[in-house]
Amino acid sequence: MAHLHRTILLCALFGSTLGALYNDPSKLNSTTYDFIVVGAGTAGNVIAARLTENPSVRVLVVEAGVSDTGYRSQDLQIPLFGPRASINSPFDWNYTTTPQKGLNNRVLTYARGYVLGGSSSTNYLTWTRGSRDDYDRLAKVIGDNSYSWNNMIKYFKKSEQWVHPRDGRDDSDEYSPDVHGTNGPILLSTGGVRTVMDTRVLATTEQLSEEFPFNLDANSGDILGVGWLQSTMGDGSRSSSSTAYLRPALSSRKNLDVLIQTRATKLIKTGTLKGVPRFGRLEVGQTTSSRRFTFTARKEIVLSAGAVGSPQILMLSGIGDAPDLSKLGIKSTVSLPDVGKNLIDRPVVGAQYIVPNDTATIDPITLGEDPAALTAALAEWTTNKTGLLTSAGSNFIGFFRVPDNSTILKKGDPTAGPGSSHYELAWQAAFASSTQTPPNSGRYISNIHVVTTPTSRGSITLNSSNPFTAPIIDPNFFDTNYDLSVMVYAIRSAQRFIKAQPWNGFVLAPYPDFAPVLADNSTDADVVTYIQKFTRTIHHPVGTAIASKEKGKGVVDSNLLVKKASGIRIVDASVFPISPSVHPVAGIYGVAELAADKIKKAYHI
Ligand SMILES: Cc1cc2nc3c(=O)[nH]c(=O)nc-3n(C[C@H](O)[C@H](O)[C@H](O)COP(=O)(O)OP(=O)(O)OC[C@H]3O[C@@H](n4cnc5c(N)ncnc54)[C@H](O)[C@@H]3O)c2cc1C
Ligand SMILES: *[C@@H]1O[C@H](CO)[C@@H](O)[C@H](O)[C@H]1NC(C)=O
Ligand SMILES: *[C@@H]1O[C@H](CO)[C@@H](O)[C@H](O)[C@H]1NC(C)=O
Ligand SMILES: *[C@@H]1O[C@H](CO)[C@@H](O)[C@H](O)[C@H]1NC(C)=O
Ligand SMILES: *[C@@H]1O[C@H](CO)[C@@H](O)[C@H](O)[C@H]1NC(C)=O
Ligand SMILES: *[C@@H]1O[C@H](CO)[C@@H](O)[C@H](O)[C@H]1NC(C)=O
Ligand SMILES: *[C@@H]1O[C@H](CO)[C@@H](O)[C@H](O)[C@H]1NC(C)=O
Ligand SMILES: *[C@@H]1O[C@H](CO)[C@@H](O)[C@H](O)[C@H]1NC(C)=O
Repeated sequence: MAHLHRTILLCALFGSTLGALYNDPSKLNSTTYDFIVVGAGTAGNVIAARLTENPSVRVLVVEAGVSDTGYRSQDLQIPLFGPRASINSPFDWNYTTTPQKGLNNRVLTYARGYVLGGSSSTNYLTWTRGSRDDYDRLAKVIGDNSYSWNNMIKYFKKSEQWVHPRDGRDDSDEYSPDVHGTNGPILLSTGGVRTVMDTRVLATTEQLSEEFPFNLDANSGDILGVGWLQSTMGDGSRSSSSTAYLRPALSSRKNLDVLIQTRATKLIKTGTLKGVPRFGRLEVGQTTSSRRFTFTARKEIVLSAGAVGSPQILMLSGIGDAPDLSKLGIKSTVSLPDVGKNLIDRPVVGAQYIVPNDTATIDPITLGEDPAALTAALAEWTTNKTGLLTSAGSNFIGFFRVPDNSTILKKGDPTAGPGSSHYELAWQAAFASSTQTPPNSGRYISNIHVVTTPTSRGSITLNSSNPFTAPIIDPNFFDTNYDLSVMVYAIRSAQRFIKAQPWNGFVLAPYPDFAPVLADNSTDADVVTYIQKFTRTIHHPVGTAIASKEKGKGVVDSNLLVKKASGIRIVDASVFPISPSVHPVAGIYGVAELAADKIKKAYHI
């Protein structure tokens, strides 16, 4: 009922004013398009916007989620509100994982954007491309040099536009201009405000420069060290694939239709081309029992439903592991056993420290201790788009390697090379955690520890042939000892950082949960206990429909076309056979820009 109610409301609000944005499949004027893009998320909107640059190309985008301009849309716009925009919000799929055996059988929340812009509208804004080695290895595994660092740079630059921090400070020692784009759609800057941690972080990079060297710009291809965090924001607001790519196209072009609150339920086989099944039609619906509609793609259907959605749609269409699908009564159309396998995600665990009560952290806003502080910050953001709400929560991030001679690497190094990372640390001037009950008063700083090149692999499988039933998500965290050992190492490394001289007298004590870990006499077993209790996902799933050059392996070829089939391409996080050893979204935009060029070339458009 609530769902229906919102549908009617949105219709009234946007049905006529925005023209080509629909929320009722029966209202579209056309049932045939050149391209149909499934998912108006991070990658999907890049494809839709780039293809419709040619006015003769007609594109339909089908998105399951809601508009990003309606109810509670301020949560999507305010950089600091990433956590409000994501977990269990109106803009989230509300997925959970299977009980994780490496985490005391805990079930984790598994956020995914359910809104125009997809997860780029609800994520935490961090912008990291990855290392030169990461992309050069990607090119090798996929068997296509266009994924190499030297070729990807032009797509990274094409996607972005550097803008200056919202507080107007001089940012010339915070980034390297030659690394960045100047007129791409995604707005990018360092944090909107400085924090009480900044000078201490910088001083620590000087005092412990061996382990924590300063890195002016991790997006140069050289990711190692600590640098200013770059975030997808400009003019004080989040920049998403909707605000940057889709909305501008929608408001200026007639050849783009966008259908929201509508799910792709399956791809329909429409014939055979060159001996393989062709999928030329998409079936959609709004609820389990609602009427189904179909739309025809003259050229291609581009699946951009993300690392959970894309394998789900493939499997619902009979594309996947035939024996698994037959158990659910789904007839196999294309046998590709790797669909939904090879899920790579990253575990993250935080630590918090108590600082003096007169410290100007972000806690008064985020812990809810001082409602007046939040009211004032909201007023400032609304009027001037400045202030604490223009912080993405963190000003520094670092990527690191465990030492070459570490026993952790004795069975081999899973990274792409000496320029790639084993782990990440990032620092926040507030109490940051989603697995602990937050305190209701006090001042804190936090840091997170992330295993960036995990070797555990999980899966996405169907639980039902009903497209409205959530698939089974198993990231399989800490399946390997390697992953756990790297996390222990990362925590020890962060301890060396926070025990350095610049933090003396500022960090008063660890937060009680972390005290047994920070104690001088703590054992690795103490650290593991903490990890198992408090680890969560950092929401980086990739790999569930991988690109592979090997015959009989993977799901898509180097042009991201589904193997053993015709008419379907996949452009989103699921095609990455390995994950660049950073946060994924910049790489996904880059690959989507590359894919748009590949599509244009294939059809001479
Ligand atoms: C809470 C959170 C924080 C994150 N923080 C960061 C960060 O700071 N930095 C970073 O680099 N990465 C971050 N990530 C990860 C990053 O945002 C994602 O990897 C990236 O946005 C995924 O892009 P995508 O195009 O693959 O999928 P998405 O952007 O998720 O797009 C998929 C779209 O398809 C739609 N869809 C799915 N199924 C269907 C269907 N059946 N029919 C129609 N539509 C469908 C979805 O609703 C969605 O809009 C974060 C993710 C989350 C969730
Ligand atoms: C769709 O068709 C209706 C009636 O034919 C017309 O009034 C409307 O403008 C069309 N909408 C678009 C976006 O073309
Ligand atoms: C997720 O939960 C929120 C809050 O209850 C709700 O508004 C939203 O519609 C849910 N998402 C889905 C996909 O059902
Ligand atoms: C907005 O900025 C102006 C000019 O700096 C300032 O006078 C005003 O107080 C600010 N408004 C809010 C609500 O912070
Ligand atoms: C690795 O090398 C460093 C520096 O040479 C040394 O201090 C350390 O003990 C070595 N560690 C191992 C596990 O061999
Ligand atoms: C900060 O204030 C809270 C609430 O008054 C108090 O419980 C806490 O002990 C104080 N912390 C410090 C470090 O003084
Ligand atoms: C699969 O679906 C059943 C029935 O709806 C449900 O009880 C079960 O929890 C689901 N399994 C998983 C792993 O989500
Ligand atoms: C570490 O020291 C604390 C007191 O300083 C003590 O309570 C704890 O039991 C010790 N832990 C170990 C593993 O020795």
